[in-house]
Amino acid sequence: MNRSADPKSTGPRHYLTVFDLSCEEILSLINSALRLKRHCKSGLPYRPAIGKVLGLLFEKASTRTRVSFESAMLQMGGSTVFMPSKDLQLGRGEPLRDTARVLSRYLDCLVVRTFGQEIVNEIARWSDIPVINGLTDQHHPCQVLSDIMTVIEHKGEGIKALKVAWIGDGNNVAHSWIQAASRLGFGLSLACPEGYWPDREILKDAQAEATAPIRVMADPGEAIRDADVVNTDVWVSMGQDKEARKRQEAFVPYQVNAELLARAKADAIVLHCLPAHRGEEISEEVLEGPHSVVWDQAENKMHLHRAILKWAMGL
Ligand code: CP
Ligand code: NVA
Repeated sequence: MNRSADPKSTGPRHYLTVFDLSCEEILSLINSALRLKRHCKSGLPYRPAIGKVLGLLFEKASTRTRVSFESAMLQMGGSTVFMPSKDLQLGRGEPLRDTARVLSRYLDCLVVRTFGQEIVNEIARWSDIPVINGLTDQHHPCQVLSDIMTVIEHKGEGIKALKVAWIGDGNNVAHSWIQAASRLGFGLSLACPEGYWPDREILKDAQAEATAPIRVMADPGEAIRDADVVNTDVWVSMGQDKEARKRQEAFVPYQVNAELLARAKADAIVLHCLPAHRGEEISEEVLEGPHSVVWDQAENKMHLHRAILKWAMGL
């Protein structure tokens, strides 16, 4: 738990991993995002963020997270400052703690995309403004909230009754799904090749609090059997380019294609946080096929980010 996730803390609330939120807070954020989506479609203005500034400190590439957070803030009447970390003095060795304290004097909220989780933890520790994790090597906590919002839109609110499968790498997005399964009480079956299982500690902590099974296995056919929701992600995450060839070989049996998907329920939905690599973790046929909800999923990032910004800045 980070400093500000302690209810006794008077500091800002940060969102660094899914475990920073209670079950009630997760559901409330998703409901808020669903309401904001309906409002957005109505075309009526909603500008609670006038005068507020959101900073985005990014050390890795991003299309969806960056643009959806920026759009969310701009649509709510606020402003944004995008900061590739290499362009800051941070890139020339200024300490994180100094950067965080200075940015806190200029901004109202900060989204960080970086490598190690310890980097975003350190920034949060020294920030007087809410810090939101926009992806680290270990977690992608905003992504999974908009993913679950998409599941609720397509399958209704009873996520606890659904069978959710994760096929592929036990990576950052998988870790956030594991924590969400634990917090929200739904079952999750992950199929990952040996050597690419989720982090043991993250899994153990999530299983310790879970009320439904969170299981990791090698067989994708078993994990996907009768699934209502099928999730996958790239085989080579940002920062792992040197391992690309080895990973591409290890993951071949884990492609979500029509043959594998035939084992899921007939009305299963397929999620992918994108960017997708057609012919690797997902076939073209499945990505573009009737089970795929990936474009709704991508859109929902923006609505969910509006809800997070509202929550974080107390708007
Ligand atoms: N899904 C996601 O986080 O996409 P980007 O890397 O484009 O932000
Ligand atoms: N696991 C991927 C997710 C990209 C949104 C990565 O970290 O590159």
